[in-house]
Amino acid sequence: MPTMADVARSAGVSVATVSHVLNGTRPVLSHTRRAVLDAVDALGYTPNTLARSLVTSRTRSIGLAVSAISNPYFTEILQGVEAAALEAGYSLLIADPHDDPGHERKVVQLLHERRVDGVIVAPSAHPDDLVGYLRRHAVPTVFLDRVIDAGVMSGIATKGGADTAHGEDAPWYDQVCAESAGPTARLVRHLAGLGHRRIGLVAGQPGFSTTGERVAGYRDGLTAAGLAHDERLLVSGNSEATGAEQATAALLGLPDPPTALVTANNAMTIGALRTLRRQGLSVADDVALCCFDDFAWADLFSPRLTAIAQPSRELGAQAVQVLLDRLDEPHRPTRTVRLPCAFVHRTSCGCPEEPGTSEGPESTASST
Ligand code: HPA
Repeated sequence: MPTMADVARSAGVSVATVSHVLNGTRPVLSHTRRAVLDAVDALGYTPNTLARSLVTSRTRSIGLAVSAISNPYFTEILQGVEAAALEAGYSLLIADPHDDPGHERKVVQLLHERRVDGVIVAPSAHPDDLVGYLRRHAVPTVFLDRVIDAGVMSGIATKGGADTAHGEDAPWYDQVCAESAGPTARLVRHLAGLGHRRIGLVAGQPGFSTTGERVAGYRDGLTAAGLAHDERLLVSGNSEATGAEQATAALLGLPDPPTALVTANNAMTIGALRTLRRQGLSVADDVALCCFDDFAWADLFSPRLTAIAQPSRELGAQAVQVLLDRLDEPHRPTRTVRLPCAFVHRTSCGCPEEPGTSEGPESTASST
């Protein structure tokens, strides 16, 4: 394997100059730079990132831990993370915590032991152990999708007084997530505006901030529309399809069932649709449906699904940017970045296709 010294010899420059050219650490005259790059090509030199890490204590790698990677929402997040990391010259190590508190702590510890420079994590519903580990080891961290309740932090000790900049109870981590409450309220108000008085929510797994915020948004939407809050209309689908099948069956089995449903994520939309089909009910005509999460097939259902589209790729890209900012400037104030969603107006809510367009009223998509 050719070394940096071989490149230096071949280009007639010092090893330090080769290093500056390859790492962009100092401007180098263009003809010198050219000579170095030609020598790199001619010799087939590849940098030894392990050796570089020993010198810099940085591996230029990011650990990403998100569950349900097969869910299109998280797949797109992953694509956003990967593209942004690559663009910044970072490689990615990926782990699936299975939304299990014990497993998540284990896989994130493995990423840390691989000496990633920082981690991006979508935490489980009970992340205390994970959060404690990350804080004790002062791991630069961005929580993604689900924000951490400040209550989780109380009582967790800091290693060597890390985070003196922000005080004992201030968050030491950054967060990136999408708006959840406002967009859910918007779906409820839309259904109420179409005359629905009994609107059910198939909610996510308790403990995720996204679940809490979407439930809050549901309640806000009912209040804004002047509708009564009937707690029987709010059932947990546990964030997955099977749970949502059961939750939808429970809602439809009420003596006074809802005439409209809001599903709080894409997997639960599939579950709700299964139950509606099994019961011979048609979407929009018998039960109106509005969904949190848009996905590639949402437009192919009949009727087409009215949905909230999350900026999933952008969430991934932002998480990388926020982590890189933290690595560049460890004592900068912490941030929670919230990105807006879009209301994608189609027809499962009961609205007609817009005349004259084959695509329907999608052009009314707007930021919430
Ligand atoms: N969070 C936010 N949106 C989602 C999720 C989630 O866990 N799953 C599917 N859509």
